[in-house]
Amino acid sequence: MNKSIIEEITAGLQSGTPFIAPKFFYDEIGSRLFEAITLLDEYYPTRVEKSIMKMHEQQIASAVGACDVLLDLGAGNCAKASELFNSVNPKQYLALDISKDFLELAIAELQKKFPHIEMTAQVCDLSQPLSFPDFVGKKKTFFYPGSSIGNFNPDQVSSFFKNIATICDGSGGLLIGVDLVKDGDVLQKAYDDSLGITAAFNLNVLKHLNRIIESDFDVSDWEHFAIFNEEESRIEMHLRAKRDVSVTWPSQSIRFKAGQMIHTENSYKYTKSSFSDLLIKAGFTAVKAWTDPKELFMVCYAKA
Ligand code: AVI
Repeated sequence: MNKSIIEEITAGLQSGTPFIAPKFFYDEIGSRLFEAITLLDEYYPTRVEKSIMKMHEQQIASAVGACDVLLDLGAGNCAKASELFNSVNPKQYLALDISKDFLELAIAELQKKFPHIEMTAQVCDLSQPLSFPDFVGKKKTFFYPGSSIGNFNPDQVSSFFKNIATICDGSGGLLIGVDLVKDGDVLQKAYDDSLGITAAFNLNVLKHLNRIIESDFDVSDWEHFAIFNEEESRIEMHLRAKRDVSVTWPSQSIRFKAGQMIHTENSYKYTKSSFSDLLIKAGFTAVKAWTDPKELFMVCYAKA
């Protein structure tokens, strides 16, 4: 395993407030558990975003305009982008994701249905700066659905947006889905569902870590904990030690007291205006936004 990844994980576990970056959720089981989450009654974002995209399909397509390349950030199973193909009609499609096997399978299937679109898959860590030298001079539409932007902290969001606005270089833009601030109880249930799928998704990160850093986390020592931090406007997911636990991995070890937590994810929730302000501050020139009738979720097109 890549030495810098091991160092990154080790530094997170050994920090004063131990954490694991959410990108480590997505091994094969994690990706499948996340797919299951998106089907849960309590987890509204995927369903509501889909309804917004469908209801405003034509307005979204006309805001996006002509598209040489559709760059799908965090493509997963590519299903969301494929629903845009008919209205946005890209010449090229680049699917980017952290999980290679999952992505390649999805692209192979999709290419059969849309043989006229040139498709490529690329493994990519979205927490690192992006660059696409092959597409210089082409009109690029970045697509970042699913409110994954909520998993970045506000500083990361502004560098990410600045990076995309710069790559667009005055043409194209960013089509993005974002979860809106709402009643804490609705949020809480979305991240602590009655079937325990989100708990399994959270706990599975320990099994993934065991493979990456050869640690000996025992999942049964830990429990899922999710809370809405109103001040920070974010859902926080943690893993809480059920008892005193000691974890070891090559030449390292760490002790956790019962009740001590490892922070695994933040999912920031925005207001309509706070999110548009972030896009404009990052260098986009105009923002169009669409929401559902209850204003649970928002889809925006930010023009470069
Ligand atoms: C991927 N991301 C947008 C999800 C979210 O809602 O923050 C990840 C997730 N974590 C727990 N449930 C879903």
